Amino acid sequence: MNISLNIAGALPLSSFVQPQYLIGMAKKLLFYRCPVCHSLVELIDNGGHSLTCCGQSMQLLTAKTEDQADEYHLPVLKHRSGLLYVEVGKKPHPQSEDHQITCIVLVTKQTIRRSDIKSNSPATTVFTDKDHGDVYVYCNVHGLFKVSF
Ligand SMILES: [Fe+2]
Repeated sequence: MNISLNIAGALPLSSFVQPQYLIGMAKKLLFYRCPVCHSLVELIDNGGHSLTCCGQSMQLLTAKTEDQADEYHLPVLKHRSGLLYVEVGKKPHPQSEDHQITCIVLVTKQTIRRSDIKSNSPATTVFTDKDHGDVYVYCNVHGLFKVSF
């Protein structure tokens, strides 16, 4: 796996810091997947350049906001005592090596928090609760899902 950002010439690191984030605009998080090795990349902002991995352009994932009839991908949220409990699906999702939820990501105006989920572990996590946000779930077979609150 060799992930790179294709840019013309070297830019200083400060070129990638978006000043609007410092004054409170909502964070924008993009998810890319390599079509060959299936590596997953979270990108805050790439300024319009393409990402490559394994010699090919990485695919921008679009989060699904509805589940199919199986109902085991959309995150189910419970706000309780200042905490946000996230459980993936109305039915338990398989958590084998070949088919699993690999991460749950909370994106709010101020923060991005990711909980990595191991195989053979339940697809659940707990974050500090927020007023508004997006919760993303990535399944290594079925892709990206999102619920907003
Ligand atoms: Fe799945």
